[in-house]
Amino acid sequence: RNGIVGRKLLSLHHLYSTQTCTYGICLDIDGVLIKGNQAIPRAKKALEFLSGENVLQKKIPFVVLSNGGGLTEAKKAESLTNMINFPISPKQLVLAHSPMRSLVSKYQDSLVLIVGGAGYSCAEAVIPNDIMRWEPTIWPYASIMQGSSETPEYDFSKQAIQAIMMFHDSRDWGRDMQIMLDVLQSKDGYIGTLIPEAEEILHQIPLYFANPDFVWSTEFPIPRFGQGAFRIAFARLFEEATGKKLKYELFGKPETPIYRYAESLLADQAYEICKRHTLPKHIYAVGDNPAADIAGANAHNWNSILVRTGVFQGKDNDVRFPADHVAQDVFEAVEYMFHKEE
Ligand code: G3P
Ligand code: MG
Repeated sequence: RNGIVGRKLLSLHHLYSTQTCTYGICLDIDGVLIKGNQAIPRAKKALEFLSGENVLQKKIPFVVLSNGGGLTEAKKAESLTNMINFPISPKQLVLAHSPMRSLVSKYQDSLVLIVGGAGYSCAEAVIPNDIMRWEPTIWPYASIMQGSSETPEYDFSKQAIQAIMMFHDSRDWGRDMQIMLDVLQSKDGYIGTLIPEAEEILHQIPLYFANPDFVWSTEFPIPRFGQGAFRIAFARLFEEATGKKLKYELFGKPETPIYRYAESLLADQAYEICKRHTLPKHIYAVGDNPAADIAGANAHNWNSILVRTGVFQGKDNDVRFPADHVAQDVFEAVEYMFHKEE
């Protein structure tokens, strides 16, 4: 009897829960919520506003959507929570490599070179330091050999690398470009070998990049090179070395996979607040990088809001990737959305 009554009450509650989730928002991290290790002044105020501290006491579904990475979503959520002093759940966090989880299962039984860690990866994942440990002469200029001097776990002349994934930014461009080129020029992934002159590089070993950002916003007053700059430089080196165009698959903003991934998390947030698992009709995105945040939002029919606290510092709007709205900071952006929707 209680079960039936309980279910009836629940369905009535669902039916009459006044809170609607007709709109939601995705917030970028670097240059919007934080700069380097510092929270941006009104970031916490914006998150509190979305969590109900507004005139309607309304909770608004939000997701944090970044081209950053290098950590698991849980670790990144913890570090963001501490920096901004506001609880961010891993369930609300999309990192550049989040949509690449599907790839991890595809290469479950392969030996994969991971550049710039993500905290999770394929079962058989190796990093550039594993290769340095196996053969230190592969990059004579290595600054310091991180990690212990334990005996190498792999012999890359006998164990072939079958894919390369760049999850986060390289900490040693020279070393990583040299090693990545060695793998891509090798005979079937055996480092130290070369594809015979005659053979075309037809089926280049698969290469994936998580983050397209040419630059990103840190504590330094001028934006710094991002993983996109590494990729552009590496593609040029590859072409110079092989005479072939580099083939790769690109993830992160403005590419589509991360938008689909963010939409699924936003629908989950709408369910948590409004008990209806539907994607909010209007999705807003706040970002500081026109080439990533605004280009991506515009291309996926989201409402784009550009802020002046990061990469973009212009007076008006970005010329190449104009946003639907330009705000001083993330709090002004959230207020703009609220007044537009309510
Ligand atoms: O590496 C992080 C950088 O590319 C920018 O991240 O949070 O501004 O998308 P975000
Ligand atoms: Mg940013």
